[in-house]
Amino acid sequence: MSAGLRVGVLVSGRGSNLEALCAAAASPGFPARVALVISNRRDAGALEVAGRWGVPAEVMPLSHYGHDDRARDAAMRDRLRLAGVELVVCAGYNRILTDEFLAAFPDSILNVHPSLLPAFAGGMHAVEAALDHGVKISGCTVQLLEPGITDGGPIIVQRAVRVQEDDDAESLRERIHEQEWIAVPEAVRLWCEGRIRREGRVVRITAAAGATDAPPSQADSLT
Ligand code: GRF
Repeated sequence: MSAGLRVGVLVSGRGSNLEALCAAAASPGFPARVALVISNRRDAGALEVAGRWGVPAEVMPLSHYGHDDRARDAAMRDRLRLAGVELVVCAGYNRILTDEFLAAFPDSILNVHPSLLPAFAGGMHAVEAALDHGVKISGCTVQLLEPGITDGGPIIVQRAVRVQEDDDAESLRERIHEQEWIAVPEAVRLWCEGRIRREGRVVRITAAAGATDAPPSQADSLT
């Protein structure tokens, strides 16, 4: 397993973003490694992904904690700290984290959302909502999570996807997913390289160490 800063990944679903992050972490020079995966669902495909990449994974369902989000999030915080995790990535995690959990990892929790925030924030149906609204361009956002706001934290990376005339939720979701697989590792890399500088809610991306040019602008993901 590659060296690098220790990342904890929270999952609930299929785990394609976890897969993308594990693949990136296995490439030479990537500044992070997945140290622990926590799922709130036993049947999450992400657990199989973790197994395939040899990453430790644990299941912490809400039912184990008397359906008390605070108790579960406190246990999750302690487990992540024990694993030496410095950065937490929510990769398809389907619960809203408690403010206590968010405050325990300040500016250190990334979340991926399948829309161009602030459009279609909140909820689990952002792709359907974008289609119903008739947008022509959608995409994904990786942001920092902050106490007190859902899907309103500082934006680190966004990648755009053009909506096709014949798109349904499934086809659009799949193309947004493909952009997430680029955006999530990119945001993790920027964070781990210390290239994220906050000015209020605006994130500035600083140049890579040794780079003489200005930081590259976001590559256009529209085709
Ligand atoms: C992603 O589309 C993410 O934006 C949303 O949940 C989905 C997770 O997919 N929050 P996966 O489990 O990483 O495949």
